Amino acid sequence: MKRVFSGVQPTGNLHIGNYLGALRQFVDLQEENHCVYCIVDLHSITVEQDPVVLKEHILDIASLYMAIGIDPKKSIVFVQSTVPAHAELAWVLMCNSYTGELSRMTQFKQKSRDSESAPTGLFCYPVLMAADILLYDADIVPVGNDQKQHIELTRDIALRVNNKYGETFIVPEGRFLREGARIMALDDPMSKMSKSAPNEASRISLLDAPAKIKKAIMRSTTDSDGEIRFDTKEKPGVSNLLNIYSSFSGKPVSDIEKQYAGQGYGAFKKDLVEIVVDSLTPIQERYREIRHAQELKDLLQEGTEKADVIARKTMTRVKERFGLGI
Ligand code: AMP
Ligand code: TRP
Repeated sequence: MKRVFSGVQPTGNLHIGNYLGALRQFVDLQEENHCVYCIVDLHSITVEQDPVVLKEHILDIASLYMAIGIDPKKSIVFVQSTVPAHAELAWVLMCNSYTGELSRMTQFKQKSRDSESAPTGLFCYPVLMAADILLYDADIVPVGNDQKQHIELTRDIALRVNNKYGETFIVPEGRFLREGARIMALDDPMSKMSKSAPNEASRISLLDAPAKIKKAIMRSTTDSDGEIRFDTKEKPGVSNLLNIYSSFSGKPVSDIEKQYAGQGYGAFKKDLVEIVVDSLTPIQERYREIRHAQELKDLLQEGTEKADVIARKTMTRVKERFGLGI
């Protein structure tokens, strides 16, 4: 069995881009692997958070994890800051990473674009991510395509430490979804669906009511030629909807194109609303059951205890290799 690790930020509600691009793989992977899933609250404070809201978001995301089918009996689910070794290993890795390579991270460049001076935490964010992964000896890291560069950096750091200090870390591999991995905004198919876009109708959140889903899909940006055809260059809006349709229904895009040949966008969009609503309803029901139950906190506490055992073992090995401690 392989060890799988992934993390998700507790910043607001998850949208179908997060689900199709990353989270859904988490559920499938737990059948044949040892999976560790982490809510990365330490990553989220690289930008300012309201403490009351952050606490709620952590529990929201934890409930959503359980609701989409992550089973705490099979997988370890926990909150990053409850296992001290993440911050501890991040420091050791910061001493083995370089300002040059961190300056090249596109996510950092984007997030710090408008300011002359950025928080050091934002700059070191990928090193903390490397610590998350390397602490658990992860073989596989399932993530969205936008995390490729961070996974490469993690591998570089692991190899660097192994070369300098002897075998210390497993060098992990990213697992990126090829098709359907990148879900675009419904109002602007040239940009990625995102949690932070001001237009609510640009995304579908996993907890959205059917009326909101319907509105967002029916009003989504397409084009005027009326043809349902996958072509991301000429028809980015329709291609994005085809992608969502295919990802939720499991039907290949080519079959969907045939099914709607000559029908225009109305019928296609209407069916898509139904497919999305039917897929999200059971998730929303399970979410409501667990969100305010004591069971949720108990499960997270168990997750912390299991994660901590693994993380401590790695830290012992790291300290030994580096000559740290007494
Ligand atoms: P976030 O918390 O927004 O950084 O994203 C959590 C996970 O979802 C990451 O693995 C992202 O790569 C993935 N993700 C975010 N937005 C999208 C999107 N529009 N399409 C596909 N995957 C996404
Ligand atoms: N950086 C990831 C994101 O923004 C979240 C993350 C933090 C993560 N630590 C991780 C993902 C470790 C995979 C493995 O989506």
